[in-house]
Amino acid sequence: MNKLYSIFKNMPKCELHVHIEGATDAETFYKLAEKNNVTLPVNSLQEWKDFFDFSNFDHFIEVYIAAASTLLKPEDYTYLIEAFYKHQANENILYTEAFLSASFMVERFSNDEILNAIKKGMEIGEKKYQVEVQFIPDIARNFPETKGRVLNLVIEGFKKDIFIGLGLGGLENGFPPELFTETYKKAKKEGLRIVAHAGETDGAKSIWGALLKLNTERIGHGIRCLDDEKLVKYLADKQIPIEVSPGSNYCLSLVEPEENHPIRQMVDSGLLCTVNSDDPAMFSTSLTNEYLRLASQGFSFEELWQLNINAIKTSFLSPEAKHKYLKIFEEFKANNFE
Ligand code: HPA
Ligand code: ZN
Repeated sequence: MNKLYSIFKNMPKCELHVHIEGATDAETFYKLAEKNNVTLPVNSLQEWKDFFDFSNFDHFIEVYIAAASTLLKPEDYTYLIEAFYKHQANENILYTEAFLSASFMVERFSNDEILNAIKKGMEIGEKKYQVEVQFIPDIARNFPETKGRVLNLVIEGFKKDIFIGLGLGGLENGFPPELFTETYKKAKKEGLRIVAHAGETDGAKSIWGALLKLNTERIGHGIRCLDDEKLVKYLADKQIPIEVSPGSNYCLSLVEPEENHPIRQMVDSGLLCTVNSDDPAMFSTSLTNEYLRLASQGFSFEELWQLNINAIKTSFLSPEAKHKYLKIFEEFKANNFE
């Protein structure tokens, strides 16, 4: 094994921005489509795999919706979640906060059906793989009509200790944060933790909206903050955590292949960043690979280690649990690098 690869693979890690559906590979969705008699917009597995060669963000969302259309049975989610725990354990990701695209769920299942299926996946996953995952269902902005039902599901799951918060994903352009102000206000009142994708494809105004209208506690992606100096200063002064996913941005052509990723400029501007894989199977990446990518762009080991520590510090864990993980992480570092 390449030495640098083994360092980042073995390093105990924390991930805060990863989607369960996006962590599922094309072949699994194809098999689920066969099992559930879902017609995909392709004629073969090879064509389906080729469909995952994303030309832009809108194409990605089109594929994501087609992939999610195969998840017709609650037990499909149990299966995906168990597989997700295996993947995180294999990557040495000890703690994860993961998104579930809830706008699809509320169209297909009762709250009871889907909550039981998710809980079962969590119980099997925890027992078999001994890593911790907490779940944040998100509203797809391009299905705003689902927001009330998603909120209802999330509150019920929160009361049953299955979910910890509410997120917002999907198409950013044309679906501004302001559409979700009331939903987020109610979620906050119920005690849910609040996050939102913003500044991925849309500009700084989308991030301002997420901060000032939704009161989001962390920003997903956020790379377009660099368009607005005042916003960069605001994010730095308030130390608002930003979940950066470099591979995702390259894959969806939001950053040009020959450019270094803007996370360099974000970190140098004093922003509180973390590294994430977003949709690892769909983007043919892994969290290990994302650390390697940044190492190849000049980030030092110390800087990458700090990004990993930032993830624990800006997670929604209790202070005691953060302390527990930080101790494990520091012990690994002391034993291997000091
Ligand atoms: N952006 C918005 N929605 C998403 C993403 C993303 O990167 N991944 C999965 N759903
Ligand atoms: Zn995402």
